[in-house]
Amino acid sequence: MTVNNRILVLGSFVADLAFHVNALPAWGETRMGSSFVIGPGGKGSNQAVAAARAGGDVCFITKLGNDSFGEMARSLYRDEGIDASFIASTSQATGAAAIILDERRGENAIIIVPGACFELTAEEVARAEQAIAASSIFIAQLELPVAVVEHGLRLARKHGVRTILNPAPAMPLPDSIYGLCDYITPNETEAAALTGIEVEDVDAAERAAEALLNRGVANIAITLGANGVLLKNHELTAHLPAIDAGPVLETTGAGDAFNGGLAVALAEGRGLEEAARFACAAAGISVTRAGTAPSMPRREEIEAVLASALDR
Ligand code: RIB
Repeated sequence: MTVNNRILVLGSFVADLAFHVNALPAWGETRMGSSFVIGPGGKGSNQAVAAARAGGDVCFITKLGNDSFGEMARSLYRDEGIDASFIASTSQATGAAAIILDERRGENAIIIVPGACFELTAEEVARAEQAIAASSIFIAQLELPVAVVEHGLRLARKHGVRTILNPAPAMPLPDSIYGLCDYITPNETEAAALTGIEVEDVDAAERAAEALLNRGVANIAITLGANGVLLKNHELTAHLPAIDAGPVLETTGAGDAFNGGLAVALAEGRGLEEAARFACAAAGISVTRAGTAPSMPRREEIEAVLASALDR
């Protein structure tokens, strides 16, 4: 039997400008940092890279400016073998994210200006209808206008393609969107923004997942950072631990590694629990590396980590 591992990712690209510093500056203060790196980012693009490296046949829809950040994205997709046929262009500048990494506490703060990708229209997404229809999994996040994301989800549904919504960054959503999601993958903050339930532990995550189930989402995976992931659907409630793949260096982009891995494993026909384990391995490896898109692991690395986790 041939597996359709075609994954359609609808989302953002921005350039990540990462500053390493020993503490956040206060308003009006200038602080010396220790290093600065520019690399490809944006949740949609990161998830496209994660899925491609994990073994998916990926098509990515976004909008880019005709500038050096846009060229960074185009060359990334050539290198990663990602189908960029439905990427639109604009004279507006490609966006950027300022990522402040606190070296002492291992935390980050991010400002994102989506720029060109936020100009993507429902009509431009509709141009990719045949590519969406040919996919096994459709995945989107919230760094594009919500109406555009909802349009993409509706097109996928129209063609019986399974949908994942990664509701990041955190924001409230219209009720109409939940019934369009076969899978939803918030982290603790995002689950709280959607449900009003503060997700402080696994029990609270289960209550938030129940609330999302009642709104019409078929499968819920609430990512809990170092505490793993809480899974829920009408048949299953499970808490999977995080997978330790080595010392944590940088957690930015871990959610994107999880979502890209989850999309691939579901496309390949794995059930929710097995797919989430694969996704946890991808996220566990990504946090051992610097950067966002550059930290995404390849298939053989994920399989090696899964095999050694089984041996333990
Ligand atoms: O999820 C991480 C991403 O969020 C970063 O790459 C940054 O661009 C922000 O969009």
